Amino acid sequence: MGTLKQLRTQVGIVGAGPAGLTLARLLERQGVDAVVLEDRSRDYVEHRIRAGVLEQGSVDLLVEAGVAERMKREGAVHEGIELQFAGERHRIALSELTGGHSIVVYGQTEVVKDLINARISSGGPLLFDVDDVHLSDIASDAPKVTFRHGGEAFELSCDIVAGCDGYHGPCRAAVPQGALRSYERDYPFAWLGILAAVAPSNDELVYAHHESGFALLSMRTPQLSRLYVQCRPNDDLANWPDERIWEQLQLRLGLPGWNLAEGLVLEKGITPMRSLVYEPMQHGSLYLAGDACHIVPPTGAKGLNLALHDVKVLAEAVVEFYRSRSRKWLEGYSERCLRRVWRAEHFSWWMTSMLHRPADGNEFEIKLQLAQLRYIVSSLAAATSLAENYVGLPTV
Ligand code: FAD
Ligand code: PHB
Repeated sequence: MGTLKQLRTQVGIVGAGPAGLTLARLLERQGVDAVVLEDRSRDYVEHRIRAGVLEQGSVDLLVEAGVAERMKREGAVHEGIELQFAGERHRIALSELTGGHSIVVYGQTEVVKDLINARISSGGPLLFDVDDVHLSDIASDAPKVTFRHGGEAFELSCDIVAGCDGYHGPCRAAVPQGALRSYERDYPFAWLGILAAVAPSNDELVYAHHESGFALLSMRTPQLSRLYVQCRPNDDLANWPDERIWEQLQLRLGLPGWNLAEGLVLEKGITPMRSLVYEPMQHGSLYLAGDACHIVPPTGAKGLNLALHDVKVLAEAVVEFYRSRSRKWLEGYSERCLRRVWRAEHFSWWMTSMLHRPADGNEFEIKLQLAQLRYIVSSLAAATSLAENYVGLPTV
């Protein structure tokens, strides 16, 4: 290797997804320096279609971070969702049931674009297309991140490394074997998602239980629908020509007197479903956040929201560390986050188990699902429980 260029910052952030970009922004506002390293291109990161539902707490955090102007204009506030089963559609009045809380439908792609624009305008370091990211000395208080960028090799010395590099990133892998414990559940199904150039056929999200499998109607803008159907975990996109997708959406979401409008499919992809937590969310000077240390199945719309909550807690702890030189807050990071993580894990697992067709078509299980759905739409207590989890609980 040629000469290694030396760089120094306070917090080295690996990953420019929602977690890494929001952390950089929150730290910047508090006068803490950070360098963000991302292995993909800006264009790729800005167009990777994922989540669409923001809890009130996430919205508040983006406002506090000063990146919410466009979201306030273009995001859609939703005060309810609908549950469909046994050929009936029932509204869960989120706001009424939760003392006025709501959600905002605004694509993760847009959140990421807003955060990248803010970072670039402020001149804070954000490097795309880096290669060979490697962590060293994470057990010490002088961790390093080496990487290549633009044909040159760099060594970034930090006080703290934030692993915001998602499920497949190198940060968690840098922790010695045995130091983290994982808790995991796989599901025997996946989601096939499409983005379609058609006005959403319903004003609110519809989560549908159907004998052919789960379906979800969601949206991005007044002209763009986002729709999902349950499929097999190892399913191949080649098995899903557009006609089959629309046919299944019509079947699973259809109701007499209601029409699901179809449009050009702009994007399609298959998302595996998994529940996974790594504990603790820290090792030495490395702090993990977001999908790097926990995954939820998308049915509860919690992944992005958890990632944002983690970095809110982490930013507070980092700021406190520089203010007081005490590690007390940093040491409490993992425990503070994990309570919320486990609540969201439970909610996401519960929603997933209630709404998807079991792989073996077990009829006992299907009867239980329908009994639970019926209970939710007929009991104020049960509906309130779903609603308060969906809009996001305060840290419990
Ligand atoms: P990521 O978004 O994965 O970001 C990690 C970043 O690290 C990426 O940019 C990656 O390129 C980068 N990286 C990886 N390796 C390296 C490396 N070696 N060097 C440098 N950088 C690296 N959540 C919700 O809350 N609501 C929803 O409605 C919802 N719906 C979803 C629908 C789908 C189809 C999917 C797939 C997910 C959904 N989620 C949802 C989950 C949500 O998208 C994730 O939880 C969220 O992206 C986590 O953010 P993150 O920043 O932790 O990780
Ligand atoms: C989405 O719009 O992508 C979406 C909405 C709700 C979910 C999951 C994904 O539960």
